[in-house]
Amino acid sequence: MPTETGDLVRRKAARPARIAEPPPGHVRIGLLGLGTVGQGLCRLLAEKGPGIEALKGVRFEVTSALVRDRLRGRAFAPPRGPVTDDAAEFLRGDYDCVVEAIGGTEPAHALVSRFLRKGVPVVTANKALLAEHGPALRALAAGNGTCLRAEAAVAAGIPLLSVLEHSLQAASVRRVTAILNGTSNFVLTRIAREGERLGEAVALAHRLGFAEADPTLDLSGIDAAQKLAILVERLTGTALPADAIETDGIADVTPRECALAAALGYALKPVAHAELGEGEVRAFVAPAAVPSGHAIAGVGEELNVVRLDTDTAGPLTLVGKGAGGLPTASSILDDVLAVARGAAEAPSSPRAPLHPAPCRTPWLLMLTLAADAADSVLDLLRSAGVRPREIREAPQALVAVTAPETRERIESVRTLLSPLRAVADARFFRIVKGD
Ligand SMILES: NC(=O)c1ccc[n+]([C@@H]2O[C@H](COP(=O)([O-])OP(=O)(O)OC[C@H]3O[C@@H](n4cnc5c(N)ncnc54)[C@H](OP(=O)(O)O)[C@@H]3O)[C@@H](O)[C@H]2O)c1
Repeated sequence: MPTETGDLVRRKAARPARIAEPPPGHVRIGLLGLGTVGQGLCRLLAEKGPGIEALKGVRFEVTSALVRDRLRGRAFAPPRGPVTDDAAEFLRGDYDCVVEAIGGTEPAHALVSRFLRKGVPVVTANKALLAEHGPALRALAAGNGTCLRAEAAVAAGIPLLSVLEHSLQAASVRRVTAILNGTSNFVLTRIAREGERLGEAVALAHRLGFAEADPTLDLSGIDAAQKLAILVERLTGTALPADAIETDGIADVTPRECALAAALGYALKPVAHAELGEGEVRAFVAPAAVPSGHAIAGVGEELNVVRLDTDTAGPLTLVGKGAGGLPTASSILDDVLAVARGAAEAPSSPRAPLHPAPCRTPWLLMLTLAADAADSVLDLLRSAGVRPREIREAPQALVAVTAPETRERIESVRTLLSPLRAVADARFFRIVKGD
C-alpha cells in the first residue's frame, strides 16, 4: 500500500512543483478579485508582510489583480502590481500562486481551470465554486502536479480544513454539528435575544457589514449547505452535491418561536448537521432546536462554530469568525504559505459513493391553537404515531417534542393537521442530538 508521503514524492517527481523547496524568498501572487476578501489580503500583506518575511523568510507580493471595474476606488490595492479588468492581460502574468476571490462559478471556474492546467497552485475562498466543481478541479490540480487549497471557503477564519488535514489522523469524524453562516447566526441571535423582526435584524446586519447586499443565499441556507458539502467531501473523500442536502432557511423564524423553544430549554440556531456512516450521509441545514447545554447553543452574533464528534478523539469544538476581509484573508495567507512550503494537499482516500439518506431526529413541534383544542390535537398526534412528550401549553400554543422522525413523516403530520380549523399554525424544528 503506497504511503501518503510516497504518493507526494511520486507526484512531485512526475511534474516539478512550481515552487521549489526550501521556501523561495519571493512569492508572486496573482489575485482574482479586489472586493472584501481581495482587499483584506492586500491589507494583511501591507500590515503583516514584513513580519512574516522576517519570521518565515518568504516575501509575498501581489503582482497583478483582476477586477470588473479597474477605476473603482479601493481602500487597499496591490502597492506595485497592476490592477486590470482585462482577463487576457491577467492570464499572461507569471505567478507562483493564484488567489481566487471573485466569487460565483463563472468566470471563476474558467480562470481557476486555466491556471491549474498550467500547474500553478490556486488558493480559493469560493464555496459556490467548490460545491459545484470541487472534485473535478482537485482532479485537474492533481493531474497537473499542483494543488487547490480552500481553507477560507468553509468557516472563513476558522482553520478547520487544516485541522482535518494535519490532525485527527487516527480518528474518524462521525458527526458534524455546526453554524457555518455568520449572517444567519447574527440575524437569528437578534430575533431571539432582542425580539427583532427579520427585516430589522437584516438591516442591522447590513449596517454592521455582516450581510451581503443580497443575503438570499445566506438566509435560505444554501450558503451553509455548500459549505457543509465541502466539509463532507473533505471528511469522506467523496463528493456530496449541496442540493442533495435537506435545506431550510431562517427567514420564517419569529421571536415568539424562539421564546417558546427557550421555555423548553432550546435555542433556535442556523444549524448545518451531518452524520457520516459507512457509504452514507444524513445531513440537513435548517433552523434547529439546540439543547442549551450543547457546545454550539451559546455561539451567537456573526460567529461560526464547528463541533466534530469523533470515534477516538472525543468531541472537538472550533469557534471563530466566519466572515470578514481580514479573517478570510488570514486563512488564505495560511494556504499561500502552505503552497510556498511546497505542501500538496493531503489526498483523502476515496471511498464508496456516498448515499444521502434521510436524517431522523426528534422534532420540536409548535402549534398555534384555538382555546381548549390541545387535548384533541394531542390525541390526533398520538394516533398518527408521533408520540409527543415534554408537552408545554402556553396561551394559544402547544409545544412538544416528538420521537425521532424523518422529515417526510413530519410533513405527513403537517398534512394531517392542516385541515383542522383549531390549528392556526404548525411549525416543526429538528432537535440537535448530543451535548
Ligand atoms: N466576504 C467574506 O467575508 C467572505 C468570507 C469567506 C469567503 N468569501 C468568498 O470570497 C469570495 C469573494 O468574496 P468578496 O466578499 O470579497 O466578494 P466581493 O466583495 O463582491 O468582491 C468580488 C471581487 O471580484 C471582482 N469580480 C467579480 N466578478 C468579476 C469578473 N467577472 N471579472 C473580474 N473581476 C470580477 C470584483 O470586481 P469589482 O470590485 O471591480 O466589482 C470584486 O473586486 C466569494 O467566493 C465569497 O464567497 C467571502
